[in-house]
Amino acid sequence: MNTNTKVDFIVQAGGKLTGNIRVPGDKSMSHRAVMLGSLAQGTTHITGLLEGEDVLCTLAAFRAMGVRAQGPDRGNLTIEGAGLHGLKPPSRPLDMGNSGTAMRLMAGILAGQAFDSELFGDESLSKRPMKRVSEPLAQMGAVIDTADGGRPPLRIKGNRSLHGIDYRLPMPSAQVKSSVLLAGLYAQGATSVTEPAPTRDHTERMLRGFGYDVDVSGATARVQGGGGLRACNVDVPADISSAAFFLVGASIAPGSDLTLEHVGMNPTRVGVVNILRLMGANIDVLNAREVGGEPVADLRVRAATLRGIRIPQDQVPLAIDEFPALFIAAACADGETVLTGAEELRVKESDRIAAMAQGLHRVGVDAKETPDGIVIKGGKLRGGEIDSRGDHRIAMSFAIAALRAEGTITARDCKNVDTSFPGFAALATKAGLAIGVKTV
Ligand code: S3P
Repeated sequence: MNTNTKVDFIVQAGGKLTGNIRVPGDKSMSHRAVMLGSLAQGTTHITGLLEGEDVLCTLAAFRAMGVRAQGPDRGNLTIEGAGLHGLKPPSRPLDMGNSGTAMRLMAGILAGQAFDSELFGDESLSKRPMKRVSEPLAQMGAVIDTADGGRPPLRIKGNRSLHGIDYRLPMPSAQVKSSVLLAGLYAQGATSVTEPAPTRDHTERMLRGFGYDVDVSGATARVQGGGGLRACNVDVPADISSAAFFLVGASIAPGSDLTLEHVGMNPTRVGVVNILRLMGANIDVLNAREVGGEPVADLRVRAATLRGIRIPQDQVPLAIDEFPALFIAAACADGETVLTGAEELRVKESDRIAAMAQGLHRVGVDAKETPDGIVIKGGKLRGGEIDSRGDHRIAMSFAIAALRAEGTITARDCKNVDTSFPGFAALATKAGLAIGVKTV
């Protein structure tokens, strides 16, 4: 990848979204499928894998540790698992790119290995907090050095004997929960994690799919160390976090009628549908079914008049990645939308509260940052130029905002859209967005 290349989106105002589309595979599940497939005994076949840069970093890391895999090719990946204790020492530091999920979950896995390793990331990832995983892993007996302020790179010592802990998460974080549970596979005794609010449970579900017992009781998930993973087939559904841009786009653009196919509808991920419906969105959940232990459905969304709301606290962790898109819905709604209790947004790929508030101001929307959220007054959107700050979700949110803007929206620094949604511009064009991509 040429890191000097910059990409801008130039999106003409107006239009509507119609037809049937399938967005790429779920990022969270794709990471986990590659990880568990690599650590399993036997051959795992994955279909629907997200071939985004984040997941490719995870796959490259396992290849660097001796795992053999064929693909990915159109979402198909076959992994010859090395077994929980079959990874080989990598010859160089492992690049986690832009991905917090990759770095935090890999830290849990690598803490249990017999060799030293090092994880590093790009400019954005290098600023993100890692103490949230290095601390509980240290309580389990791991030795992990971080850079100043608990930032990457992470230097992880091998050959430590880990022991189970009962860990209470200080913040709702599926990444931290998963990191500790994955280290728990290598620990003596039981490891439990108790969360302050439900977060995505793909790790727990997928561990079970790979034949590993996970005991879930209320807010606590528990694993016993010393077991093994059995290879299996994983069908990754379309990513609801990528579908979110189209759910918002079709809601705000008059005349839209769009169906999103085979979308993952795990109850810990559906906050975006719940919140949009509270705002008055017209979303039908069709053909609900279960695929490989995960609920899936087709979502038909038609344009609707949205109203501002106070976003319920319990929906915040369930929609944590969808707030940039939801802020665009709020900007197009009648009245005020208030978000609180979402300080985690400040430590994502960018400070998403600041990035969105600045972008909304640029297109003439009244948005006030608060320490843990934002207040957005719905109104007219002008055209304008916004800075995505290298954050994929900021870029895609302002791209779909053009559907309701009065002039062209130019979003700068959009290259990282490839981390989660390769082919976004082409798929959005197919659905009706007048988006141009300029490489500078
Ligand atoms: C993820 C968990 C969330 C989410 C991220 C993916 C995961 O992060 O924002 O995009 O796959 O576990 P936190 O656990 O830090 O909230």
